[in-house]
Amino acid sequence: MYDVDQIRAEFPILSREVNGKPLVYLDNGASAQKPKVVIDAITRAYSEEYANVHRGLHYLSNLATERYEAVRGTVARFLGVRDENEIVLNSGTTEGINMVAYGWAMEMLQPGDEIILSVMEHHANIVPWHFLRERMGIHLKWVETAADGSLDAQAVIDAIGPRTRLVAVTHMSNVLGTVVDVTAISAAARDRDVAVLIDGSQAAVHMPVCIDDIGCDFYAVTGHKLYGPSGSGAIFVRKERMQEMRPFMGGGDMIREVHRDFVTYNDAPMKFEAGTPGIVQTIGLGTALDYMMATGMDKIAAHEKDLCCYARSRLDGLNWLNVQGQAKDKGAIFSFTLDGAAHAHDISTILDKRGVAVRAGQHCAGPLMEHLGVSATCRASFGMYNTRSEVDVLVDALELAHELFA
Ligand code: ALA
Repeated sequence: MYDVDQIRAEFPILSREVNGKPLVYLDNGASAQKPKVVIDAITRAYSEEYANVHRGLHYLSNLATERYEAVRGTVARFLGVRDENEIVLNSGTTEGINMVAYGWAMEMLQPGDEIILSVMEHHANIVPWHFLRERMGIHLKWVETAADGSLDAQAVIDAIGPRTRLVAVTHMSNVLGTVVDVTAISAAARDRDVAVLIDGSQAAVHMPVCIDDIGCDFYAVTGHKLYGPSGSGAIFVRKERMQEMRPFMGGGDMIREVHRDFVTYNDAPMKFEAGTPGIVQTIGLGTALDYMMATGMDKIAAHEKDLCCYARSRLDGLNWLNVQGQAKDKGAIFSFTLDGAAHAHDISTILDKRGVAVRAGQHCAGPLMEHLGVSATCRASFGMYNTRSEVDVLVDALELAHELFA
C-alpha cells in the first residue's frame, strides 16, 4: 500500500508555505526535495563519521571509506547492474557524459564518425558531443520526435549508418516526459557494434531501471533528482567500454604510481574518480536510493502513473492550454504554453503566488524548443510525494493565470 501522506510527512520541506500558501512542489524535473533520512545521513556523516576516503589508515577514514564505497553497491542494485565495479561515482549526469565524451569517445572515434542524438536531449547530452564535433570533426545526426512527442525506437535504429559509433539518447525526456524504448535501441545497436549511452537522469527517478535488461553501454544518473544531495551521481560503464576508456581527469585517488617520467593508474572504476569525491553527497545518495528501494520503485511508478493520468485528464480539459507531447508512454512531466501572449515566466510567477513551484524556460533543451516551435514553456514535473489534490491546485492556478492574461 502506497501511503502518500506518510511519504509527504517524511519530506520536511513539504510542510512549509510559500507566499502564504501550502507549497505545491512541481519542479521535480529540475531537482527533487530530500527526505529526512537523507538529511539525517548528511548530518550524521559530518557530525560523527567524516574524514577523507581511500587515504588514511585511521578509524574515521576507514569508516568514511566504508560508507562511501557501500554506495557503489547500492547504485548497482538500484540500476540492476550485477558488477558494482561497472559503476563510476561522480557529481551527476553532466560529469558522467563528459567523462564518456573525453575518456571514451575521443579515444575511440575518428573524424567523420557519427553520433546519433534525438532532438529531445538535454544539453548535458548534447554539448559534450558538440565539443567532439568542433575538435574532431565528429558528425552529429539528429532523430526527430513524432508529432505526439514520442521517439520511435525504429527511427533511431534506422538512422544507424556505417560510420555510426554511438547512439546517445534519453530514457525519459525532461520536457515532454516521453519514455524511450532504450532496450530495443540497445539491442539493435549491439548487433551493429555501435555503443549506446542512455541519459537516465529523469527515468531512474520515476520507474524501475534494470540495465542488465536494457543492455546499454553507458547509463548516467544524477543524485539530486533521485531525492539525494546535489553534487552526487553515478554512471554505469560496461566493462568492455571501461577497458577502452582513458581517464578523463587526473589527480589523486585515480593513480597508483607517479614518477617524473611516467604514471600508472589505479584499477577501474577508481581510475575514473580523480580527487577527493563528494564524500557526504555520495553517502546521502546511497541513503536516498535505499529509501526509494524500500518504498518500492514499482509502487512509486504506479503512484506516478495514476498522477499522470489524472493530470492529463485535468489539463486536457483546459482548451486554452497547449500541452507539448502526448506520447502514450509518458511520465508525469507536463510542459505547456497558454493561448495568447502570456510568457512562460509570467505564468510561473502567477503559479508561484499560489504556492505552486514549476520551471519556466527552455529546460536545457534548445533543439527540442526549436523543433516544437516555441521559445519557452512552463513545466510541471511530479514526484513520489505529489498528490491528485496538488494537480487540482495547479489547475486552479492556471485558470487564474488564464483569466489574468485573457
Ligand atoms: N535538468 C534539469 C531540468 O530539466 C535541470 O530542469
